[in-house]
Amino acid sequence: MISVQDTNTAASPLAPEWLAVPADLNALHEPMWAQGVQRNDAGELAIDGIPASELKAQFGTPLFVMDEADFRARARSFKDSFDAAFADICGGVDVYYAGKSFLCTAVVKWVEEEGLRLDTASGGELAVAARAGIDGARVALHGNNKSDAEINRALDMGLGRIVVDSLDELDRVARIASARGGQAKVMLRLTPGVHAHTHEFIATAHEDQKFGLSMAEDTTEQAGLSAAEEAVAAATSYPGIDLLGLHCHIGSQIFEPDGFALAAEKLLRFLAAMQEKYSIVMPELDLGGGYGIAYTPVDTPRPAAEIAQAMAAVVRSTCADLGITSPRISIEPGRAIVGSTTFTLYEVGTLKTVRVDAAGSGAAENQAENVTYPRRYVSVDGGMSDNARPVLYDADYSAILASRTSDAAPQLSRVVGKHCESGDIVVRDVYLPEDVAAGDLLAVPGTGAYCWALSSNYNYLARPGVVAVRDGSARLIVRGETEEDLLNRDMGV
Ligand code: LLP
Repeated sequence: MISVQDTNTAASPLAPEWLAVPADLNALHEPMWAQGVQRNDAGELAIDGIPASELKAQFGTPLFVMDEADFRARARSFKDSFDAAFADICGGVDVYYAGKSFLCTAVVKWVEEEGLRLDTASGGELAVAARAGIDGARVALHGNNKSDAEINRALDMGLGRIVVDSLDELDRVARIASARGGQAKVMLRLTPGVHAHTHEFIATAHEDQKFGLSMAEDTTEQAGLSAAEEAVAAATSYPGIDLLGLHCHIGSQIFEPDGFALAAEKLLRFLAAMQEKYSIVMPELDLGGGYGIAYTPVDTPRPAAEIAQAMAAVVRSTCADLGITSPRISIEPGRAIVGSTTFTLYEVGTLKTVRVDAAGSGAAENQAENVTYPRRYVSVDGGMSDNARPVLYDADYSAILASRTSDAAPQLSRVVGKHCESGDIVVRDVYLPEDVAAGDLLAVPGTGAYCWALSSNYNYLARPGVVAVRDGSARLIVRGETEEDLLNRDMGV
């Protein structure tokens, strides 16, 4: 006999351990939302006073809704906090917004106006930068496999730095720059053997991954030399290369500052050794991005000032220990600037509830056998095409009923998309009011980074537009695709 148990008001045994039943399903957990998002007097989710229903009526769903003032505030907070922490060390910090997280011309303008610079990772991202009219000297180019065309484009634009990823590429950049009769400003991307995850970091001998030049010795044909040192030696000998310094990026969605600090120390020690050995000065050190944000109530991001101070302390003490002047420090935050500025607005469609055997679901082991629990599937009008992160990285998100408040009991729900794929999950586990119905609007916070940027046309869904809200008005900064856009590149029968 299979018995049935209702768990509407208590925690569901199907829920992961970290997910608590919210005391108030209508409340917004602040760290996950942009500053301008609130519930209005009618109970609707509103951004800068514009209710979700109005956004839906004007722009349709799914829709990325971005708070421009919040973006600017987060950008400024990184710049100001790092400038303050490093003022007496190297006169401040250059903050490169990592455009891979979300890029369009409007965002380039905001970045520039707030005193930041721009980190790009392809010719396409450079094209956006050029279209926005940003000074090339304030732009960096990344990538482990830059084409000659991309390198030429960077040199055409007078880029402030090309971050070189390998010995092969160093040769290529040197050759192209020399053929043009000039020099490329280059940083070398090193793998410091520090790999950071969300809650911890591990230090390994060297990293088994495609990016960067290894700092471990004996990894190249020249016995005793690390790839990193070989690159420094080569860079100083090439007439086409102006070697600015070193770069590292240890990972993404990291909360603890320890990993950044350890990487900074390792790179400074290496920089000092290379300066002495090759009688050179490397005036710059880029410590990458990777600062974490809150996707769910259990994520605890640190304020920019706290990270800045922790990193500054290590840079200060390491430079003192080495007896060197600190290079000018730069960082490359993407997610921590744009991630929480944006929520995705969806309309609810099909609903169904399945009953799941707790034993088979991976839920608490001590549940009685043959007892099933309800899990409700809430389908929305987008999915893995506008947010691939749950599928790609098992990323957790949260969701809230946006079009109204509800006093109904919490029900463990799974928000899914409309794609032909059972893994098409937007929010794996969330408590939503049990009266959520077709036509309701749901909002998923924290979708500013790597969602629109990773979006696809799977199943010929049109990619959503991005609306920026500022001073109580909303404007499209990227329009959504139309059916015509989808058919445009089809060359016909
Ligand atoms: N600098 C470099 C060299 C990077 O490779 C990255 C990210 C960043 C800066 C910016 O990292 P952020 O501050 O945004 O964490 N698609 C994945 C993340 C990939 C990150 C790639 N590199 C995700 O959605 O989690």
